[in-house]
Amino acid sequence: MTGLAPGQVTVDVRLVPDDLNAALRRDARAGLSATPKAMPPVWFYDDRGCELYEGITRAPEYYPFRTEQALLRASAGEIAEAAGATVLVELGSGNSEKTRLLLDAMATAGAGLVGYVPFDVAEATLRAAARSVADDMGIGVHAVVGDFHEHLDAVPEVDGPRLVAFLGSTIGNFVPGQRARFLAEVGDMLDPGDRFLLATDLVKPVERLVAAYDDAAGVTAAFNLNLLAVLNRELGADFDLDRFEHLAVWDPRNQWVEMRLRATERTTVKVPEIDLVVDFAAGEQMRTEISAKFTGDAVRRELAQAGMAVAGSWTDPAGDYLLTLARPA
Ligand code: SAH
Ligand code: TRP
Repeated sequence: MTGLAPGQVTVDVRLVPDDLNAALRRDARAGLSATPKAMPPVWFYDDRGCELYEGITRAPEYYPFRTEQALLRASAGEIAEAAGATVLVELGSGNSEKTRLLLDAMATAGAGLVGYVPFDVAEATLRAAARSVADDMGIGVHAVVGDFHEHLDAVPEVDGPRLVAFLGSTIGNFVPGQRARFLAEVGDMLDPGDRFLLATDLVKPVERLVAAYDDAAGVTAAFNLNLLAVLNRELGADFDLDRFEHLAVWDPRNQWVEMRLRATERTTVKVPEIDLVVDFAAGEQMRTEISAKFTGDAVRRELAQAGMAVAGSWTDPAGDYLLTLARPA
């Protein structure tokens, strides 16, 4: 990769803690004053949130992680050959755990692997993952700390063709307008030889969908409630976590699972850093996350609208999950 020696890590920080705090203030001011109340999901992922997300991926009910992992294990070789890229760019890379399967496959594919560009908002998790991939694989790693809704321009131009991967069904966490904007930006970013690999969870019976976002051990509940702990720590808020409970609801019209926090009793919360006092009625619900579910046709259509065409697709034997490889149309 341009200017990057094998085994070397560089980190491009587009979001310093001050920027993050300013963005959180903005989102909290808007979201806690809205009717109904809502917060964007990016705030789940502080160090504790990243740890809890890892816990979710180990929960027996959370099939998306295991299914995607098995699908990559079975298909990464074919995907790597079809993509023909020498650099892997990964948006929302987290701890890059599943990515290893793709990196290994690219390293042994015809084109060979030169570099990895992980991109995530969670700086500490990202730095640790970047270091460990560089050490283990001896490739150049250029990490970007940024928001994928704002800083896609930070993805570096490189010499070889790139594969841009968006795993974890994270695309499902975007509302439709955001999703269309994001896909259009990815489409614009691709050079003719570049490819885009998109992971989507597919529509299935509601019981399994809801269970995946409401595991019996309560890890997802802890993950959801951690958002309130972030608001307490970063904005001096006084949310009492015992007065809120986790809720996962299937929305059949929008075809998404909605994560909410419900106030179990009437409660008033002070958020001093933004001079806000917020009332929650007993039973009032705040939306914290959606996780949209797709069909193959919908994925194809949305990619086409973003200027991309399907170049390959892979699904698990049960038809639960879909990996789609796209090229600029
Ligand atoms: N790719 C991993 C992690 C998915 S969890 C997997 O498949 O398991 C979603 C990841 O996206 C987290 O690491 C989170 O920190 C990151 N993320 C969430 N919102 C983001 C945003 N707006 N910009 C950049 N990264 C974001
Ligand atoms: N991208 C993951 C998903 O939609 C993120 C996730 C898993 C999540 N479990 C969650 C987000 C619970 C919020 C709450 O499946």
